[in-house]
Amino acid sequence: MYYPEEIVEEVRTRNDIVDVISGYVKLQKKGSNYFGLCPFHNEKSPSFSVSPQKQMYYCFGCGAGGNAITFVMEYESFTFPEALKFLADRAGVRLPEAEYSREEREKADRRLEILKINKVAANYFYYQLHQPQGRYGYEYFKKRGLTEETVRRFGLGYANKTSNDLYQYLKSKGYGDAILKDSGLVTMEERGAYDKFWNRVMFPIMDVNSKVVGFGGRVMGEGEPKYLNSPETLVFDKSRNLYGLNYARTSREKYMLLCEGYMDVIALQQAGFVNAVASLGTALTAQHAVLLKRYTEQVILTYDSDGAGVKAALRAIPILKEAGISTKVLNMKPYKDPDEFIKNLGAKAFSQRIEEAQNSFLYEIEVLKREYQLEDPEQKTRFYHKVAQKLLEFEEELERDNYIQAVAREYMVPYEHLRRLVNRLGSMPGAVSKSAQDRQREPVREAERKKEKDDGNRRAQRLLLTWLIERPELFARIEGILTPEDFVEPLYHQTAELVFAGHRQGKVNPAEILNYFINDEEQYREVAALFHARLEESLNNEEQKKAFSDIVYRVKKNSLEQASQKAADIGELQRIIREQAALKKLSITWE
Ligand code: UTP
Ligand code: MN
Repeated sequence: MYYPEEIVEEVRTRNDIVDVISGYVKLQKKGSNYFGLCPFHNEKSPSFSVSPQKQMYYCFGCGAGGNAITFVMEYESFTFPEALKFLADRAGVRLPEAEYSREEREKADRRLEILKINKVAANYFYYQLHQPQGRYGYEYFKKRGLTEETVRRFGLGYANKTSNDLYQYLKSKGYGDAILKDSGLVTMEERGAYDKFWNRVMFPIMDVNSKVVGFGGRVMGEGEPKYLNSPETLVFDKSRNLYGLNYARTSREKYMLLCEGYMDVIALQQAGFVNAVASLGTALTAQHAVLLKRYTEQVILTYDSDGAGVKAALRAIPILKEAGISTKVLNMKPYKDPDEFIKNLGAKAFSQRIEEAQNSFLYEIEVLKREYQLEDPEQKTRFYHKVAQKLLEFEEELERDNYIQAVAREYMVPYEHLRRLVNRLGSMPGAVSKSAQDRQREPVREAERKKEKDDGNRRAQRLLLTWLIERPELFARIEGILTPEDFVEPLYHQTAELVFAGHRQGKVNPAEILNYFINDEEQYREVAALFHARLEESLNNEEQKKAFSDIVYRVKKNSLEQASQKAADIGELQRIIREQAALKKLSITWE
């Protein structure tokens, strides 16, 4: 961080969060909080809450959360220093210039300048497209069925045949060689500067906030490479951008269509499927998936129907699953990609295919099947073994069973046979002498139980942290009993340290605590969520008291359990056992 914490805190406290967010989102007061429609995902009823007391926001729908600084970072796509500057200006706080390392300030300035250059270039390409010299480009788009409205919406353009006219134009606007080179739009060679793109139709790539971060340029007709893309720059990171997401995020659908190319997104959106996005020319990354998860729970893969598309789909499915997204796969046959499909069969037929999209697991099995000759009994047996093995991926018994049923139905294997096979394979490692029945089920169930217990323990720690923030008076009740070390989850432990320290100084400030995590997006999200943990049902007073003591008890018990597993010597173990005994007798009260 380039600013001392006091400065960051001053900027934050001088910007009331309700004030700041009201500039972007219509908020309504309900009880002690404000509610509105979440600007970070699509929704019809407000689950975005802003707490004046905590000076924090949180969306119960998508999990976005943070303080005033993180809000403008996210909404405006600002880096931390940019957000701080913005809020400092807003509140009339003067930032100490020297605190901002020169290198960092220059980098931030360069980012802003490249964004400006990209915007100027996009306008230039768009203008060229509508000039006589851009006629071929314009006709190319027309031939591919794009309307003028679509051309405008996506800011499509044309890069001239001459080899450096964009460079000349940008020079005339006052941009220097160094920054033009950094923008990726110009290459500097011994003999002079050349435009990276020429004689191509141009697709500006926009980030979620519709800022132009890069370009793709397509040859009109045959030629290599078909698409030329901007290199990675200070503002363009392929693995974090999805083409079309700036529009798709505003769609009202519950799912997103994920495809391969520029033209697929454009054709789909033109046909009314605004929820179409593409990872451009790169395989889907975990960062893409995390980005998608902010806006949707479900993805329908509309990759090309050729071999490469199938491979890409098989690679994308586990990545999406890991991010918590459920996936279906759309069958595009007999067409190659969404663009061709729409052109030939139209939007209605495509909607039908969306309806029929296949569950990603069943899709994986179907692709697997192609490797085996099922007429051959030996190969068939191997196929079923492979399927059974794959079914073990589902840790939860009910879910696994549902898939066993579905596969049994689809491939006409008797359900019982398949289930037994799955259980047998699942019990292979470390089976000891137990009854056959037990042996079949044990390992998976054990894993399930452990996971449930871990989840419960984490939840207890979360709730307790929320309570300690919402009801400062509770701190006194737990002070002699719990220490920050009892929050065993590392991130919670770190947070608890800050919460406890705050209480000891007589003032806990969640928005301030969040600042400690500002450099790591994943962490600040999680900590923000931490401060908003909720009991599912609203409990009455009596129940709350009970829940509080249960939860304190649970957190302590779990911490002692873990400590006993790590105990270094007998003395320590004895101490832990004494504490465990004491805990049983302890009464923890709410008032
Ligand atoms: P495709 O080759 O499937 O092209 O590449 P497409 O999307 O169907 O394009 P049209 O319809 O022929 O115009 C899919 C995506 O892969 C990236 C582009 O983002 C493209 O949209 N790609 C492809 C490149 O980056 N470079 C290439 O040379 C080819
Ligand atoms: Mn295509």
